[in-house]
Amino acid sequence: MNTMDLIKKYESGMIDIRRHIHANPELSNEEFKTTELIREKLTEYGIEICEIGMKTGVVGLLKGGKPGKTVAIREDIDALPMSELTGLPFASKVENVCHSCGHDIHTTTLLFCAKVLSELREELCGNVLFLFQPAEERGSGAKQLVECKFYEVSRPDVFVGLHVSPEYPAGSIGLKRGPANASCDTFYIKVSGKGGHGAHPENCIDPIAISGYVLAQLQTVISRENHPVYPAVMTIGSIHGGKAANVIPDFVEMSGTLRSLNADSRAKMQEAIERITKASAEAMRGHAEVTWEKGMPPLVNDVEVIEDLQAAAEKTIGADHVITVQNPSLGSEDFSYLFPEYAPGAQFRLGSGNDIDPNTRHGLHNSRNVFDDSCLAAGTAVLVQYVRDFLR
Ligand code: NI
Repeated sequence: MNTMDLIKKYESGMIDIRRHIHANPELSNEEFKTTELIREKLTEYGIEICEIGMKTGVVGLLKGGKPGKTVAIREDIDALPMSELTGLPFASKVENVCHSCGHDIHTTTLLFCAKVLSELREELCGNVLFLFQPAEERGSGAKQLVECKFYEVSRPDVFVGLHVSPEYPAGSIGLKRGPANASCDTFYIKVSGKGGHGAHPENCIDPIAISGYVLAQLQTVISRENHPVYPAVMTIGSIHGGKAANVIPDFVEMSGTLRSLNADSRAKMQEAIERITKASAEAMRGHAEVTWEKGMPPLVNDVEVIEDLQAAAEKTIGADHVITVQNPSLGSEDFSYLFPEYAPGAQFRLGSGNDIDPNTRHGLHNSRNVFDDSCLAAGTAVLVQYVRDFLR
């Protein structure tokens, strides 16, 4: 039976489950009920649940009728700490928690991949590993999978997955060859001076004036130090210091994010941020410290895996629903901890917008964005077809 026909018969069930998950979102590392639901459904579908010691999240394994390679499909399950303002009947019932990044759709897609592939078990030559990953929004869930040695369950030969994209229409997918998402590092700067009376700067070392200088000089990291062919972003997102108009404080704290698509350029910019911050502060008699939370590497899609996903999409949703994505995003995605480190892989974009409801186009992490859940069938079909072809 062709894949889309198999999936279409479950479409209303998929929508029900997705709306249930949507109404009951859970924050990173607190996805207890979602985990329970996934375990319950996988058991119902006849998928083996592998106990690897994760607090939340689930790893499931399907063994095909004949031995062969292993495909890992990974999706994330957590929601964001923000309120939902869509006014939908199935809007979040939890205050200040919302599936505004579409991970409810990701979770549902993977559940139905498991259901349909389990029905096709006999035709598959090899295994399918279902990775329901927690805490993507914290950038730590994929690392947890690694720490719990997910690869010992069945070593993957390839990773695939999807992420919703309101900018593309529901029923279509977007494919990006090569670099698709950026690395993500957070840095914290503490500029120390010497506080005192605002009327006597000569007796003080003013960390506010120093911070203004540091902030301006840091703009040269991207413009003067990074190779211009490698896209990068540095944003200082917070700056705090001082309480009164006539008092020079002792210190100022700032924090920022650094994004890059290239490992070398990332390392050079990290070095430049430290050097410029410290030297700028010292030039003005102050002192600065930089501390890092180095995050995920860039997500680089394997070209061959993308070609195979394209073939799977052409068979299921049709070539006219396959969009070639030209530009990478400087947003990040912690799937990059898994590939290419453990096997090649690729993630495609699943369109979730439409031209009827403008609320489907606000974008990810937006309280008002509505996801068109007719995208569920398309996403599930492409993944299932990919697995059928890979494990033929
Ligand atoms: Ni997301």
